[in-house]
Amino acid sequence: MSARFRLAHNPKMYLNGRGVPHRQKSSTSRTNSSHSRAKSSRTSNELITTDFVRKHIINLQPYTPIIPFEVLSEQLQRPTSEIIKLDANENPYGPPPEVYDALRTVTYPHIYPDPESRRLRAMLSSECKVPAENLLVGCGADELIDLLLRVVLEPGDKVINTPPTFGMYSFDSYINDGCVIDVKRGPAPSFRVDVDGIERAVAEHNPKILFLTSPNNPDGSVLDESDLERLLCLPVLVVLDEAYVEFSSSYTSRIAEVPNRKNLIVLRTFSKRAGLAGIRVGYGAFPNELIEFIWRVKQPYNVSVIAEEAAMAALSNPTYLQDVRDKIVCERARLFTLLSQFDFMDPFPSESNFILCRVTGASAEFIKKSLLARGIVIRYYSSPKEISDCIRISVGRPEDTDAIIAGLTSISSK
Ligand SMILES: Cc1ncc(COP(=O)(O)O)c(C=O)c1O
Repeated sequence: MSARFRLAHNPKMYLNGRGVPHRQKSSTSRTNSSHSRAKSSRTSNELITTDFVRKHIINLQPYTPIIPFEVLSEQLQRPTSEIIKLDANENPYGPPPEVYDALRTVTYPHIYPDPESRRLRAMLSSECKVPAENLLVGCGADELIDLLLRVVLEPGDKVINTPPTFGMYSFDSYINDGCVIDVKRGPAPSFRVDVDGIERAVAEHNPKILFLTSPNNPDGSVLDESDLERLLCLPVLVVLDEAYVEFSSSYTSRIAEVPNRKNLIVLRTFSKRAGLAGIRVGYGAFPNELIEFIWRVKQPYNVSVIAEEAAMAALSNPTYLQDVRDKIVCERARLFTLLSQFDFMDPFPSESNFILCRVTGASAEFIKKSLLARGIVIRYYSSPKEISDCIRISVGRPEDTDAIIAGLTSISSK
């Protein structure tokens, strides 16, 4: 019996670290017995509905999303205009004015959208220098991660994850009944991917997918070019998530290489650079032989009329996008300098639109809660343990930086 077969038939077992098996959520005895599946002799009233739920979904830990703006406003008893939201790496400037014009004048909201997002893909093709045939648009980059896993994973297939990193890679892998192998990054401040460890894990576990992120969320570090070259030589599909690429000065997108490589997939999004997080548009470049299958599993109308119009309108104003990008990069430097002046803050250099910051002499959770009480929302990590003493602050406008610095000053003087 092969290792893959054994794992596939032990749904609570996932791999963590260098091949050390670990379980997703600990299951209850109820979970074990539930999968004897409802007997056909039972009446519908006697059924236990959860018996119908797939075993690995019962064991799935729910993803913790951010608290919606309106809910937050109610919880904090403050209008949204008085909340400084720096927890989800959104773009505080929003999209260019052309987007609002486009949304106001949508002509056919009652007609289904183009299932192939042809006009948007044509614009992206000329911007990214990738043939439209290699591009697919999704309801955010998030959807593309899930679509790819749906196409590639058989139950129990392995995926390499490089934590600390974006949580959706492991979450979507579990949803698709994959086994996640964590190969941890090196220590702060570089958070460099462990190329030797990944090579060993590939040799040992024969995974199908490797997730890489540049710049990485949550620390903002970028991939070293030679590391990436080595990793691209491995016999796996390499998913290179470039959600924050526009904010980096030292890392250049690899999207144009996708058509010439067999195993490179590059993901991008309109959420960060174009201020369209709420509208949900992302895109990916996929190798020729793979993209056909992504098309097959995609819901036909995954990108709404509004999303396609908004994304095209955003692309029509590159000057605005560049200007906003420059403002954020400039503010990142100022925020970094100001954070460094607090004894209890140790910010890490970032090439993205957020800064990860180690908190010393106080708990990170305390800082998060204290700022929240002042209407400033930041991200705090209870796990993984390498960053459980860290907060992540999205780069906002200059006045947002001022508010956060005033908040930290008042916390430190108490
Ligand atoms: C690394 C990374 N990739 C992808 C996404 C999701 O992008 P989208 O909003 O397009 O789904 C995020 C969102 O925070 C992210 O941090």
